[in-house]
Amino acid sequence: MYNETVMEHFTNPRNVGEIEDADGIGEVGSPQCGDIMKIFLKVEDNIIKDIKFKTFGCASAIASSSIMTDMVKGKTIEEALALTNKDVVDALGGLPKPKVHCSVLAEEAIRSAIEDYKKKMK
Ligand code: FES
Repeated sequence: MYNETVMEHFTNPRNVGEIEDADGIGEVGSPQCGDIMKIFLKVEDNIIKDIKFKTFGCASAIASSSIMTDMVKGKTIEEALALTNKDVVDALGGLPKPKVHCSVLAEEAIRSAIEDYKKKMK
């Protein structure tokens, strides 16, 4: 059902964990399945210096979180905000159709963490 890239990120996920003194935290849930994704950000000079995630969800959600965190690490806030779930699916080499909604969590979670960061900056 899953391709090699998805399986690799699921079995060996990058950037798992929490950041204690995070600059921004985002948590989102999927209305379809109830799974939850939480993202922690460290930002310096508008650049995402560090990012960690905790995902209580399916293999696709974990693989999506893993690859998304790799994709936005070192990027500017604006670049991270431009990331879509389609970018995540493409980077994973595709997800089975019923699992595409899992990648939406990754897009929503990074946006929510950035919103929280911006609120804290004010
Ligand atoms: Fe819930 Fe994948 S089935 S995020």
